[in-house]
Amino acid sequence: MKEKREKFSNRLGFILSCVGAAVGLGNIWMFSWKLGTFGGGAFLIPYFIFMAFFAYIGLISEISFGRMIKKGVMGVSELMKEKNIPLANYLPLISIVSVSGIFIFYIIVFGWIIKYFYSYLTVDMNSIDYATYFETFVGTSSSVGWHILAGVISIGVISLGVVKGIEKLNKIIMPLMFIIFIGLMIKSLTLPGATEGIKYLLTPKWEALANPQTWVMALGQSFFTVGLSGSALLVYGSYIDEKVDIPNSVFHTCVLDTCAALLAGFVIIPAAFAFGHNPGAGPGLLFITVPAIFSQISGGKILAGIFFLSVIFAAVSSAINQLEVPVEAFMYKFNVSRKKASAIVGTILILVGIPLDFSMNLFGKFADFMSVILIPLGALIILAFFYFAIDNKKIIDEIDKGASKKRGKYIIGFGKYLFVPGTAAVLILGLIFGSIG
Ligand code: TRP
Repeated sequence: MKEKREKFSNRLGFILSCVGAAVGLGNIWMFSWKLGTFGGGAFLIPYFIFMAFFAYIGLISEISFGRMIKKGVMGVSELMKEKNIPLANYLPLISIVSVSGIFIFYIIVFGWIIKYFYSYLTVDMNSIDYATYFETFVGTSSSVGWHILAGVISIGVISLGVVKGIEKLNKIIMPLMFIIFIGLMIKSLTLPGATEGIKYLLTPKWEALANPQTWVMALGQSFFTVGLSGSALLVYGSYIDEKVDIPNSVFHTCVLDTCAALLAGFVIIPAAFAFGHNPGAGPGLLFITVPAIFSQISGGKILAGIFFLSVIFAAVSSAINQLEVPVEAFMYKFNVSRKKASAIVGTILILVGIPLDFSMNLFGKFADFMSVILIPLGALIILAFFYFAIDNKKIIDEIDKGASKKRGKYIIGFGKYLFVPGTAAVLILGLIFGSIG
C-alpha cells in the first residue's frame, strides 16, 4: 500500500465509528416500518434473539479477524490462497461486492433524506400532500442530483482517511444524533393519544411469530443493522491495536444500535397513533407518514428539520463504512493513494446506481438481493473460513487480547455451531421467502 496503515486514535474513536456504522437508515427507516408491519412488539422477540446470538458473535469475530491480519478483504483472500482454499481469489470478493451494493442503493435513500432536509429549510412543507410529493420524485430523474450529492459527501469523508475523516465525523455526529432522538422521543411520547402507540410497540401480536417471514425479516435486519458482512467491520478492526477490548466494544455497539432503533420506533410510532396514521405504512413511513405527523405538531417545521438532520447523521456514518470496504481493497490491490482510490471507486459506485433512480421496482429488487442474499453470503464465507480454517487457539488469543473478560472460547463455539449453520439457514430462508426490504 502506498500510505502507512492508519489506526483509530483511541478506543472511543473506534467504538463511536462502529456505532456510526451500525446506526443508520436500517434503524430509522427499516426498523420502524418492519416493526409496524410484522407484529408490533412481537417482532422484537426474534429481533433480540438474533441480535444477541448472531450480531454480537459475528461482529466480535469479524473485528478480531481484521485486527489479526491488519488487512481488509484482500488479506483474507491471500490467507485463503495460502491454505489452498478453492476459488480463494473470488470467494472473499463476494463480501466486497455485497457491501458496495449496499452503498449503491443506500446513497439513493440518503439523497432523499438530504432532499427532505433541504425542503424543510426552503419551502413550506406543511402545505403539501406528502404522498404525491414523495411519489413525484422517487423513481424519477429528480432524485439523481440528490443521489450524487450523497455519494460525493461520502467520498469526501472517506478521502480524508480513518482518523481525520471516519473517526472525527463519528465523534461529532453520533452523540448529537442520540441527543436529538431522545428529545424527539420525549416530544412524541407526550403527544395526546401517544399511549396507543406505546401499547402497540410493547404488546406482542403472537400470531406474527407463526409467520416465517417475521423470522426472516428479523434475521436480515439483525445482520444489516450492525453491518455484519464479513468485511465492513473487518476493515475497521484492521485499524485497531491489541489494547482494544473487542467483545466489550461490540457489546456497546449492539446495545447502542438497539437503543437507536427503539428510540426511532418510539419517536415515529406513538406520533403516528396520536395523529391517526397507519404505523404499518411500509417504506413510506419515514417519507410520507412522518412529514404528515410533523405538519400537525406546533413547531413541527423546525422539529422536522432537526429530525431529518439527525437522519442525515445516521446515514452518512453508515455510508462511509460501506464505502471504506471497496476503497481500502482498491488501495491495497492497485497501490494507489486514498484520495485517488476514493474518487475512482466512489464515482463508479454512484454511476452504477443511477439506473436505480429511475425505477423503484428495480431499486427494490436490487436492495433485496444485496441485503438478503449477498450480505449474509459474504459474511458466511469469511467467517466460516475464520472459524474452521484458522488455528482456533490463535483466534481465542486474538479475541481475548485486551479483553477484561475472556470470552474467546465461547465465541468460537457459538460461531462454529450456531452462527455458521444459522446463517446458512438465513440464506436458504431468504431465497425461499424473498424480500426483507
Ligand atoms: N448498519 C447500517 C444501517 O443500519 C447499514 C450498514 C453500514 C451496513 N455498514 C454496513 C449494511 C455494511 C451492510 C454492510 O443502516
